Amino acid sequence: MSSAPQGTCVQPPAGGRLAVVSGGGTGIGRASAAALLVAGCHLLLLGRRRQLLESAVAALGAEAGDRWVGSRVVDVSEPSDVAELASHLRATGRRVDVLVNNAGSPAASTHGDKGLAALSSSWLETYRANVVSAVLLTSGLEPLLTRPGGRVVLLGSTAGLTGGASPAYVAAKAALHGWVLTLAGRLGRTASR
Ligand SMILES: NC(=O)c1ccc[n+]([C@@H]2O[C@H](COP(=O)([O-])OP(=O)(O)OC[C@H]3O[C@@H](n4cnc5c(N)ncnc54)[C@H](OP(=O)(O)O)[C@@H]3O)[C@@H](O)[C@H]2O)c1
Repeated sequence: MSSAPQGTCVQPPAGGRLAVVSGGGTGIGRASAAALLVAGCHLLLLGRRRQLLESAVAALGAEAGDRWVGSRVVDVSEPSDVAELASHLRATGRRVDVLVNNAGSPAASTHGDKGLAALSSSWLETYRANVVSAVLLTSGLEPLLTRPGGRVVLLGSTAGLTGGASPAYVAAKAALHGWVLTLAGRLGRTASR
């Protein structure tokens, strides 16, 4: 079960384009959300910490004009949380035009100096945080993607191509680089890009 509190009930408007941004309360996710707002999208920000989300909604909402900005507490690495989000959006009849899989986090120590059990936990947790999270959210919301014209974005990293100091993180981001090619081939054929 998720340790995140229950998601707030969000009701995006029926019209206009909707962008869903995981980790939209901070950093790159929040900056991406701001850019999508300027591009004319309504915004639904996802994350685990309600306060950060509420503060991002207040700031972005002040610039939103006639666009809608809302948030929902969702742990995107938890199947039940993602299923609840998908079910909620389906019930509202709302399509998703842009999905930004931004949520992710660097690994804790992964150098094996704490033993193999700790190494295994750390690698699995890093994979879950950076790969399974995007797979779950994309798969959960795929039936709601606008077709044609929907967009799915994955946040990779140059570290996934060049290597880096955190091997589990590097490997997880590299996995996204491979998966996006398969995803693009499949969704492209069914009219969502
Ligand atoms: N910063 C860089 O230099 C850099 C470079 C290359 C790639 N990236 C990638 O860009 C993305 C954003 O990075 P950032 O630097 O902006 O980091 P950040 O500020 O730590 O953003 C991560 C966001 O994701 C959310 N999040 C994490 N796990 C989540 C989960 N399971 N469910 C829902 N939300 C979750 C976090 O909020 P909660 O903790 O409240 O859930 C937070 O808002 C990451 O995927 C990162 O790997 C970053």
